[in-house]
Amino acid sequence: MKTHVFFVDKNVDDLNTYPHILQAASYLQRGELVAFPTETVYGLGANAMSTTAVENIFVAKGRPSDNPLIVHIATKEQLHDIACDIPPVAHTLMEHFWPGPLTLILPKKEAVSPRVTAGLNTVAVRMPNHPIALALIQASGLPIAAPSANRSGRPSPTTAKHVLDDLDGRIAAIVDGGATGVGVESTVIDCTTAIPTILRPGGVTKEDIEQVIGVVDIDRALVEKGAVPKSPGMKYTHYAPKAPLIVVNGSSTFLQQLVNEKRANGLRVGVLTTEERRHTYEADVVIPCGRRNDLRTVAQHLYDVLRAFDETNVDIIYSESFPNEGMGVAIMNRLLKAAGHEQVMEK
Ligand code: TXA
Ligand code: MG
Repeated sequence: MKTHVFFVDKNVDDLNTYPHILQAASYLQRGELVAFPTETVYGLGANAMSTTAVENIFVAKGRPSDNPLIVHIATKEQLHDIACDIPPVAHTLMEHFWPGPLTLILPKKEAVSPRVTAGLNTVAVRMPNHPIALALIQASGLPIAAPSANRSGRPSPTTAKHVLDDLDGRIAAIVDGGATGVGVESTVIDCTTAIPTILRPGGVTKEDIEQVIGVVDIDRALVEKGAVPKSPGMKYTHYAPKAPLIVVNGSSTFLQQLVNEKRANGLRVGVLTTEERRHTYEADVVIPCGRRNDLRTVAQHLYDVLRAFDETNVDIIYSESFPNEGMGVAIMNRLLKAAGHEQVMEK
């Protein structure tokens, strides 16, 4: 299969009638797969009402079939095609955070294919805050099921190149709208529990959410080893670069000592650092990932940096760690997943 690339400038007027958007929308209507940018990461879209279209997603990604998909919508009206019994707290969250990187888990409508929800009686829904995503969904007239557009287990794509590296020849088309902004996936919040529960930390922080609806819970699996996550996708290892990655909780001096020990044993060592500290390390490869004084920039570059290490020939990567608050929660969640939870603490 040849993968068509449609370049679209997201600042163009009247995206809804832009020829490339209409072409991409017609692929979706025919049940084919189209990757497109959102404000978080690129998504791999298919008609959420078609079981065969949705099945193609699992094949193209090599995704385990027990991992449900997020349905993307462009208008509030579309919500009622896929979800029902929507609790008041969900409406409040939509008012404040949509369009934006917050996915709500809601009771599902019968019409939604069980392939989308992996047989669960709930459905994940979000309205992305990206002009191309919104225009494409609207032009297709369909709710669009879309996981991140990477091969299963790879870091989520934040550029069209990342998507092509993983899926060229496996999908019908990709809309290239440049680099995404947030860099990590949406926050997933379960609105079917008495107190809403965060199942995956992401682009909207717990602090942001609590300012609007008061105290929320966090899925036990996010804080406790061994607990089974309520979000099936959270149990899979993810984002892992080819070389083993180890997260270092401690000073740069301590991290440098670890680097020195490995290099003394003849290993080539990489360091994942930040702009503030990039010049403090001596290693084979040093890659900065945003600025420590603005964690949003770290989130923005994280997946690109993890992919960049795969283009080097390092044997091992040490990464700095980040404060476990605000955007730091999503960053540490992804970093530790990428590291297979390998971390060291400075004594
Ligand atoms: O930012 C994002 O959310 C991106 C962009 C493309 O929108 N999408 C994304 O999709 O990250 P994906 O498939 O990579 O992650 C979806 C997550 C998985 O962890 C999945 O298990 C969870 O959402 N999920 C989906 N439906 C669910 C449900 N009914 N109950 C619990 N978790 C669900
Ligand atoms: Mg994903």
